[in-house]
Amino acid sequence: MHLQKVKILESTALPFKQKFSPNLKKYLEIYEESIRDPEKFWDREARKLEWFRTWNKVLEWDPPFARWFVGGLLNASYLCLDRHVKTWRRSKVAIYWEDEVGNTRTLSYSQLYSEVNRLASVLRKFGVRKGDRVAVYLPLIPELPMTLLASARLGAIHTVVFSGFSSQALADRVNDTQAKVLITADGSFRRGKLLSLKKIVDAALEKCPSVESVIVVKRANVDVNMQKGRDYWYHELLKTARDYVEPVPMESNDPLYILYTSGTTGKPKGIVHNTGAYMVFNHAAYKWAFNIRDESVYWCTADIGWVTGHSSIVYAPLSHAATMVLYEGAPDYPTPDRWWEIIEKYGVTIFYTSPTAIRMLMGYGEKWLKKHDLSSLEILGSVGEPINPEAWIWYYKNVGGEKCPIVDTWWQTETGGFMISPAPGLVLVPLKPGSATLPLPTIEAEVVDDHGKSVPTGVKGYLVLKKPWPGMLMTLYQDPQRYKEVYWSKFPGSYYTGDYAIRDADGYFWLLGRADEVLKIAGHRIGTMELESALVSHPAVNEAAAIGKPHEVKGESILMFAILKQGHEPTTQLKQELKKHVREVIGPVATPEEIYFVHSLPKTRSGKIMRRVLKAVLMDMPIGDLSTLEDEASVEEVKKAYEEFKKLLKGSS
Ligand code: WTA
Repeated sequence: MHLQKVKILESTALPFKQKFSPNLKKYLEIYEESIRDPEKFWDREARKLEWFRTWNKVLEWDPPFARWFVGGLLNASYLCLDRHVKTWRRSKVAIYWEDEVGNTRTLSYSQLYSEVNRLASVLRKFGVRKGDRVAVYLPLIPELPMTLLASARLGAIHTVVFSGFSSQALADRVNDTQAKVLITADGSFRRGKLLSLKKIVDAALEKCPSVESVIVVKRANVDVNMQKGRDYWYHELLKTARDYVEPVPMESNDPLYILYTSGTTGKPKGIVHNTGAYMVFNHAAYKWAFNIRDESVYWCTADIGWVTGHSSIVYAPLSHAATMVLYEGAPDYPTPDRWWEIIEKYGVTIFYTSPTAIRMLMGYGEKWLKKHDLSSLEILGSVGEPINPEAWIWYYKNVGGEKCPIVDTWWQTETGGFMISPAPGLVLVPLKPGSATLPLPTIEAEVVDDHGKSVPTGVKGYLVLKKPWPGMLMTLYQDPQRYKEVYWSKFPGSYYTGDYAIRDADGYFWLLGRADEVLKIAGHRIGTMELESALVSHPAVNEAAAIGKPHEVKGESILMFAILKQGHEPTTQLKQELKKHVREVIGPVATPEEIYFVHSLPKTRSGKIMRRVLKAVLMDMPIGDLSTLEDEASVEEVKKAYEEFKKLLKGSS
């Protein structure tokens, strides 16, 4: 392991902006105190928000179900808007929006407030009430955060589907939630190419009987099919909208949203987040990580289709009345300095992106950075996948000019907010390139072996969380049993993250990627089973397997194996068709890099595909450590499968 070689970045070495001076001792004091009485700690944090009624009890823990701030009443849209428009912040910029070709929109808090109220009145006219589900399939335009806030204002539960997902993926999610209203746009642009969103929606809705009304934002100005009595233009509806809608008081444990994410089966999991504790947790953790201030200009490059966008574009920043940049487009279009140009133009002070993007921009070289003045930057963030020390150092030196702490935030859709991360807004700890450092206050993380026992320093194990925390998911939508099984059964009493990690001698956490059958492609979560069921849904395919292969930029890329049905030939043309098929079933993020045709796949006696064997063979690596075996497979069985598959693949490709 490379841990020993990693330099610790101390204050003496680093003139961080805003005089963040790392102080491990002080951080540990705060942390230790928080661990001694987490409920007291969160009670204090919760009081920083404005509640309509305070809670009777901070936590009711009926493992593995938590209820936080029981009896407390609040509204997320109120916290993100009404609270600010009562002050001078009404004229503060909330959103600087920009697209690929430089069109811009600027919205102050009072404009955002007014738009959200008007949209909420429209939704109410369509019958949306507390607890109803509102589906959202929008590109990264201001109407996307507006829709979330309008839904939250009414107490409805939003479910955002990433606008890069296919019609099938959209239909599956809409049907699972039984949403009655869907909000979309006519189209959007990516790298200058039009994406016809409404067409995708039309195809999805053929299979979604629950959707009664569709609201369409005119974004691309293209002709679309508008079905009478079902489809309405957003701008037309807003003409007769009302200016104010009373925010519905929500009990802290009423759901705010459902967001689907990939797991180890073919069916995505509907992660349900509550309102009160989710807001409290995100409000606090966001301040700790990014030290948000009134003068800050914040830019998170994620899409709101993922949890990063929900927590770190919508709810946390807006609850702090942050000024933010929203950019609809690719990082390197039309030129590789598009992002640097935006940082300079808006004077961005906090920049939050993914290791994949950093590696990609690193690939274009420093000459693109040198064209721009990035001296406004104060804090740089990373999320979504492990950041390798090389990318970390490049980011730190070339983007941050050796003056900005790198805040590597480890978290998940399920955790709702940051869990392990440096916290310059609280007390910065010395940084180590490639480590997410230490858990945030009250978070008890540990690395354990297969039996749930703590592993020694420097030994790889599974990352678990030992205690409930406010941002945690409530359950899986309509499937509490699966919630128990997936997260709380592998290590009874602890939450299983699905990640591998190592703790070093200083107690720092090093995240090492997924331990389960989930891939991270450019930071996007995709399940191997989802890919496999997409591939076998093609008439030529009998059986399929998917693995992730390390990729220099994207972290991982998708490789697949297919066993064809009788009568189908393994041609190059079929291979192309199959790649396209997977792309169409799930979406462009799921496009396999390669598909190998084989006659059989290595399996355990119980019939589970041994993906590790596939991986070792493809990467021309020895099968390696067999101490954690696939379920029910013996050492001999795995070795034999490895040898056989090696021969087979040589013969067939
Ligand atoms: C990975 C994204 C290393 C991890 C917020 C986790 C990370 C999964 C980091 C969740 C990080 C996220 N370092 N790995 N800083 N952040 N991950 O649900 O494998 O899309 O389990 O949430 O991303 O992905 P999700």
